[in-house]
Amino acid sequence: MIFRLADFRFPDDPQRLYPQTPQRPWVLEIGFGDGRFWPQYARTFGQAPNYLGVELSGVSLLKANRRLQAAGLDNAVLTRLPADVLVREVIPHGALDLIVVNFPDPWPKAGHTEHRLLRAPFFQLAASRLKPGAGLLLTTDHDEYFEFACAEAAASGVMAVETGEPPPAALETKYALKWRDLGLGVNHARFTPTAHAFVPHGSTSPYPDAVPEQESLPLETTVPHAVLTLPTDFSPHDFQKRTERSPEGRGPDWTVILLDLYQSLRRDGWVALAHVVEGELTQEVLIGITGRADGSHLVRLAKFGGPIITPGVKAAVGTVTAWLESEGAVVKHRGY
Ligand SMILES: C[S@@+](CC[C@H](N)C(=O)[O-])C[C@H]1O[C@@H](n2cnc3c(N)ncnc32)[C@H](O)[C@@H]1O
Repeated sequence: MIFRLADFRFPDDPQRLYPQTPQRPWVLEIGFGDGRFWPQYARTFGQAPNYLGVELSGVSLLKANRRLQAAGLDNAVLTRLPADVLVREVIPHGALDLIVVNFPDPWPKAGHTEHRLLRAPFFQLAASRLKPGAGLLLTTDHDEYFEFACAEAAASGVMAVETGEPPPAALETKYALKWRDLGLGVNHARFTPTAHAFVPHGSTSPYPDAVPEQESLPLETTVPHAVLTLPTDFSPHDFQKRTERSPEGRGPDWTVILLDLYQSLRRDGWVALAHVVEGELTQEVLIGITGRADGSHLVRLAKFGGPIITPGVKAAVGTVTAWLESEGAVVKHRGY
């Protein structure tokens, strides 16, 4: 089953995601590609564990979904997101039995290592989401990335590393076969949490150095909106692309780019298209500017595309409102 970010709860739980099999172990695969690993690996268990797969590529998502359906793996959820957003926002603390990363993108060029997934902050995040004794399996052909990941795990202060043989299914993925055809070998390690860098807010930790986790996005359910009166000579033809950034040092970082404005075909009004960036999370959102019976206009986030209401999305509604104010609108109410 394919989930969009908006289909999840924050955090979510296996009872809701896997209502038929909530007690089974929970496995996360990051960057599953065309999805060959899971059908083979799941067979090594008596009953297929609950599976959550995260991938950036939309084409891979569809291919993998077909593969999992053909294999009859019903207790599997696939999503197209950056892995760290999923892990941080969706997975509860201490919930996973296993994380699998097969042949992660190596970003081999000098100066590109900050794009690599397996860096110390990610190991800290992953450790906080694994159950005691659970682990993260890495298989890669790339010697330099392998050494880098082991060094980053050590630097995280919360992961022990043990090298060994990969599970046979990790040697049958698309990239494993590609590297095998080229005669390249593979490296494999299991990273096991030794401590937690983070604890959930309001709970205590057996690890004295653990600090309350700060980095979750504050998500909201109230739809951001504003009510305003447009000047009688208002002309949307003056619209220009604009970019707003969060004030430095005050709350979460976001960037809003108002890209375009369209005339609504159904209603009296317009729809603004905004691109919202918050760390690894990007969303394209639509913000309606709709005429009301009393002559005022409602500026409101549209539900289209299932947006997640983050500080950046609220700021996008604020950016549209601020643009209209600069055109002479008078704001009667702000709900963002
Ligand atoms: C080299 S491919 C390996 C695919 C597959 N695991 C295999 O062995 O055939 C790496 C995959 O990771 C995905 N990926 C890269 N960064 C990611 C991220 N931050 N979150 C989720 N997936 C990611 C890419 O889209 C790509 O499909």
